[in-house]
Amino acid sequence: MSVGHSPYNQELEIGERGGPAQPLISARGLLKHFPVKSSGFFGPKKVVRAVDGVDFDILKGETLGVVGESGCGKSTTARLLMNLIVRDQGDILFDGETVGGTLPLAQYRRQVQMVFQDSYASLNPRLTIEESIAFAPQVHGVPAAKAIARAHDLLHRVGLEPGRFAGRYPHELSGGQRQRVNIARALALEPRLIILDEAVSALDKSVEAQVLNLLLDLKRDFGLTYLFISHDLNVVRFMCDRVMVMYLGKVAEIGSRQAIFENTRHPYSSALLASMPKMDPSERTMEPPLTGDPPNPIDPPSGCRFHTRCGFAEDVCSQTLPPLAKVSEEQSTACLMSISGSGHSRAPVAMEA
Ligand SMILES: Nc1ncnc2c1ncn2[C@@H]1O[C@H](COP(=O)(O)OP(=O)(O)OP(=O)(O)O)[C@@H](O)[C@H]1O
Ligand code: SF4
Ligand SMILES: [Mg+2]
Repeated sequence: MSVGHSPYNQELEIGERGGPAQPLISARGLLKHFPVKSSGFFGPKKVVRAVDGVDFDILKGETLGVVGESGCGKSTTARLLMNLIVRDQGDILFDGETVGGTLPLAQYRRQVQMVFQDSYASLNPRLTIEESIAFAPQVHGVPAAKAIARAHDLLHRVGLEPGRFAGRYPHELSGGQRQRVNIARALALEPRLIILDEAVSALDKSVEAQVLNLLLDLKRDFGLTYLFISHDLNVVRFMCDRVMVMYLGKVAEIGSRQAIFENTRHPYSSALLASMPKMDPSERTMEPPLTGDPPNPIDPPSGCRFHTRCGFAEDVCSQTLPPLAKVSEEQSTACLMSISGSGHSRAPVAMEA
């Protein structure tokens, strides 16, 4: 079922635009710096460079995974896309239209929904499950009876029998059941993009697997697109079509699942993958795992931000910021070793013009 053809959706005036090849969402130069308190009254104003110039596309119908160590800017990127925080710079295009420009914010907001890690905090403890799911559609003008009937459909769809669960309160449910309710709630406005920020990370492994399979079914049935943030690279490999690797507020590498997991061109991605638990001993790599914490995002290293931890770093790496450059049809990497004529001894030699 495509969101563009649902009668319920017509009521909400959401429609399909653009062609299938046009990205559903494009982030261009996204930037968010959070001010931090300086030590002295006259001291320089400092900022956390949480998201520091990030570009990416999410294609229609795909799942884009976002990975990287804690604090690299994954949730801030998600919050910027959701408009939960205001970006300092950059543009968001949704199906070719500028958000806040040709596409009014209100119309954009209901097409992008988010599911967070904490299943309990997202639900109002005073509302029953059916009231929680029906709430947003009612705010958008769907009549109460219709919104409640739809909430029951959605409960059924996420594997919770409406007769048993619709009248319960959040504290009467398990974590996995509550996360199913949050997914139903996210679906209630028939969005086109769902952002899942560590949405399954707090669940037991067996419950996690069931919820992941549910997400895959819903994506197929409702024609959804996902942005999937996770620390668990095995889960990302299972769920995602493409993967974006972030480091200290920037994109280190982005590409197809196969390109990133089997042919990464960025030493940071290699190090992350090396730290991934492997079942098969033959798959284990000799790549040195990451040591220490990432540098402080208030005062990040010059040039390539990874140079303080990279085994391939040369002098040029502390002087030159590598741009995100296309290295194949399905992969872009921000490393001077991949950029011809960059001055790194392992870079391809630049061709004379
Ligand atoms: N509201 C805020 N005010 C100040 N700093 C913030 C704020 N939100 C995030 N940060 C900082 O911005 C950086 C990026 O944070 P973010 O939450 O996006 O990271 P993350 O990749 O989601 O990390 P995790 O994997 O731990 O969830 C961190 O250094 C964080 O401390
Ligand atoms: S640019 Fe230099 S420091 Fe950065 S990842 Fe590449 S080799 Fe390592
Ligand atoms: Mg986060």
